[in-house]
Amino acid sequence: MTRSTWRTRIGFILAAVGSAVGIGNIWRFPWLTAENGGAAFLTLYLVLVVGVGVPGLIGEFVIGRRSNRNPVGAFDELAGRWYRPLGAIALIACLVILSFYSVVGGWILRYTFASTTGAYFAAPQQYFAAIDYGLGAVGFHVLFLAATVAIVYLGVERGIELSTTVMVPGIVVLFGGLAVWVSTLPGAGGGYDFYLSLDVSYLRENFFSVLPAAAGQALFTLSVGAGTMLTYSSYLGEDRSLAADGTLIAVLNTAIGVLAGLVIFPLLFSLGVSPGQGGPGALFVSLAGAFAELPYSRLVGVVFFGVVLLAALSSAISILEVLVAYLVDEHDLSRGWATLGTGGIFLVTGTIAALSPSAFGLLADTLSNVVLTAGLIGFLLFDGWVLGRLAREEFGRGAGPIAQIFEAPWYYAIAVVLPVFLAFTLVTSVAG
Ligand code: PHE
Ligand code: NA
Repeated sequence: MTRSTWRTRIGFILAAVGSAVGIGNIWRFPWLTAENGGAAFLTLYLVLVVGVGVPGLIGEFVIGRRSNRNPVGAFDELAGRWYRPLGAIALIACLVILSFYSVVGGWILRYTFASTTGAYFAAPQQYFAAIDYGLGAVGFHVLFLAATVAIVYLGVERGIELSTTVMVPGIVVLFGGLAVWVSTLPGAGGGYDFYLSLDVSYLRENFFSVLPAAAGQALFTLSVGAGTMLTYSSYLGEDRSLAADGTLIAVLNTAIGVLAGLVIFPLLFSLGVSPGQGGPGALFVSLAGAFAELPYSRLVGVVFFGVVLLAALSSAISILEVLVAYLVDEHDLSRGWATLGTGGIFLVTGTIAALSPSAFGLLADTLSNVVLTAGLIGFLLFDGWVLGRLAREEFGRGAGPIAQIFEAPWYYAIAVVLPVFLAFTLVTSVAG
């Protein structure tokens, strides 16, 4: 069987950015920032994106491009079947993440529709609380999931590329515009304070709870540890600089998350909602308040949530694609049956998350962090100790002079320092 490769040189970047930029940036990041002390979380998160996320992303690319296989087959191909369980962790991560991701995707779909009437403008907090979990949430989760399944079923790689080229500029323009506008609102200053001015004593006192949350989010936002980036890089046909591509993806993705925070925190403060109060609804509550104030509020709402929906879909597709690629490659299932079968699983798991706030919270927060961290530890130990010199060689393929300087430091980081560090965050998150 011949494997397809990315049609255009930039197709891979577009798909990877499409996977990375999602509700992780726009919804999960502000939610966790609010729960973990604002600037304290932001600071650790930025450090960990650079120190752990980017080298980890490159480590995942190395396995994908070297093997040209799905996350389970990759290990088999490179080192034999005893290594297959390393890929199974990534599959579990995909199962955990899409189970709640689809629920949030459903919320967004619902807000896109609700924007046409402005149903939530008057009492945003009450509106969110009334619709977040329950049968309505189940219905919209099913719709979002059906859209994801349909796109993966049709295998529209062009569609992913197209949606990213619309979504990324769309997000930057919309959030950029909103960020400027919110800076003029009374009370916005408290939001900048919370988000940007680091309270060292908060960080010191809460270090062991903020650390695993920030590390988990650094992986989540870059789609690292779930085999998504491994799968996408397995279609890389030509020599590219994995380090340069990884850095570009991380910079774009992180900028979008930081920008989202510059909109959401000033808004929450100007509405008089304390960030901790917002919970998973912080995004929806703050934006509703803003849209109600703006001219053409319904149109703004539809366009805004429509763009966020694209971001959510392109990420959800990348998760489902991992499971489908695995079933098609390793179990000889047709693409159709593989897609429908995995869709059926998420129909059930997503419904549970859509009905139960505690199941949702567990999946979306701690459990996601744990599976991604575990997945990445496996990938990096494999790179460092099983591939060894070959991993360095793969890093070097297509690398320019600047990237080459990082080859040795990258290798020692992923082989030793990062696995130890990640194991430590795993212990603190399970213990805390
Ligand atoms: N990175 C995506 C986001 O920020 C979520 C994701 C995680 C996608 C893991 C794929 C794999 O929304
Ligand atoms: Na992201």
